[in-house]
Amino acid sequence: MSLELQKVLLVLSIAHSALVRAALECRLESLSKIDGDNETLFEFNFQVVGRERLLNGTINLHVDLDNNYEISTDVSTLLNGEWESSNIRAQYKTCMYLSIIYDNYFAVSFKDTNIPSRTCPIKKGEYYARNVELIADNWAQYAKLGLVRASIIFRKGNVVYGGLDVVLLLRQKIM
Ligand SMILES: *[C@@H]1O[C@H](CO)[C@@H](O)[C@H](O)[C@H]1NC(C)=O
Ligand SMILES: *[C@@H]1O[C@H](CO)[C@@H](O)[C@H](O)[C@H]1NC(C)=O
Repeated sequence: MSLELQKVLLVLSIAHSALVRAALECRLESLSKIDGDNETLFEFNFQVVGRERLLNGTINLHVDLDNNYEISTDVSTLLNGEWESSNIRAQYKTCMYLSIIYDNYFAVSFKDTNIPSRTCPIKKGEYYARNVELIADNWAQYAKLGLVRASIIFRKGNVVYGGLDVVLLLRQKIM
């Protein structure tokens, strides 16, 4: 079995086990952009806006986002005041990441946006996302409740070209 297929099966089995758990409610605590080691080719200019704490802003891709790059997400949780890495981690080449992670877990939240979904590569340019309320209903595999930090990092080789740190408060939804 190829490694890619194994990863896909792993994600599917995780997603399946999530179905039997309760949906999650998500509050956006903070957003901060991660600069590249030398240059920031993928620039996230997002802010938390309004009382509803929505994600709002733009992504500036200074080059085409294609399979020359890898995207990873690492989830950390707050333990005794320190961020500790959890075992939740996904790292794929761009197109695989977009189809497995973005299209499945994030695209549903991005309603007022021109960020393409189900598309790869994504052409260089500036894309907006307005008033995004993160819908965490199918995120139960990230079911570390409480304060959770997701670090989304764009790399080529071991060099970082940009990213985003997102801090969320995840709670079980009261049904
Ligand atoms: C960063 O930039 C310097 C100077 O342009 C260059 O010598 C170096 O190789 C670059 N490092 C990386 C990791 O791209
Ligand atoms: C939200 O983002 C849009 C698009 O980038 C921008 O035009 C607007 O001013 C932003 N709204 C707030 C409240 O920052």
